[in-house]
Amino acid sequence: MWKNWRQLVQGAQKTKKTEEQKGTEILSPSAHVPAHVAIIMDGNGRWAKERSLPRIMGHRQGMQTVKRIVRKADAMGIKILTLYAFSTENWKRPKDEVDYLMSLPQEYLATELDELIQRNVQIRMVGKEERIPSSTLEAIVTAREKTKENTGLILNFALNYGGRNEIIDAVQQIATLIQDKQLTIDEITEENFSHFLYTANLPDPDLLIRTSGELRISNFMLWQLAYTELWFTDCYWPDFTEDDLEEAVRAYQGRSRRFGAITGGRS
Ligand code: IPE
Ligand code: IPE
Ligand code: MG
Repeated sequence: MWKNWRQLVQGAQKTKKTEEQKGTEILSPSAHVPAHVAIIMDGNGRWAKERSLPRIMGHRQGMQTVKRIVRKADAMGIKILTLYAFSTENWKRPKDEVDYLMSLPQEYLATELDELIQRNVQIRMVGKEERIPSSTLEAIVTAREKTKENTGLILNFALNYGGRNEIIDAVQQIATLIQDKQLTIDEITEENFSHFLYTANLPDPDLLIRTSGELRISNFMLWQLAYTELWFTDCYWPDFTEDDLEEAVRAYQGRSRRFGAITGGRS
């Protein structure tokens, strides 16, 4: 059954995902450290404003935080770190800011890729590739290719990502398969549906962190966050430290995840 679905998904997406997906097993959450941590990295603009700096300086400083937090996540034994870097709604920002944000993956990878390879990190991306400048996409695709066999931390960038967009994409693929009589309606189950999402071979996030004091999801992983533990901090992303990540994980460890049942184990 799983094999059939995988073939259908790949056929429907008509992408070259096969290589990337090969050999990747679905990871299960560990008892203590959350296997999959996702972060909405917010507050760069306000960080800059408080210092009378242009907004892009906040993004620049935010990239330094990414460097530190990736190292820390790896050291803590987190298996997957998903970083929300650019939403489908962020195109509404001034062109200068968008251009700068789109240059950051390249800049980050130029300085960090060697170390990431050394650390056995596997780089991935979720989001729509269209509209992303070709130089940015090339840097990511190259990094993805170079690290696809790595078995350590999965560093997953959500770039030009929108949760609603992702769901609509999945629905369109499924509808096409039904139209072509390759699928029946009763085969659309929760499990099968999830294979059509950008996160097809990743477990759902165990812990979501959002910085900057905003208490919202902002179109991030709408399907996948169904039972994710949420942790918010007022701290702006450029100020987020390794200790803050530890604090979030400690809070997670104190939660009881019941998934709708009466009793639940500790995370
Ligand atoms: C997060 O910081 C970075 C992105 C959304 C790309 P913001 O740029 O949203 O910072 P604030 O929320 O305006 O402070
Ligand atoms: C969410 O932050 C998107 C990213 C961090 C990439 P925003 O700053 O875009 O979200 P809103 O507009 O405050 O909801
Ligand atoms: Mg913001």
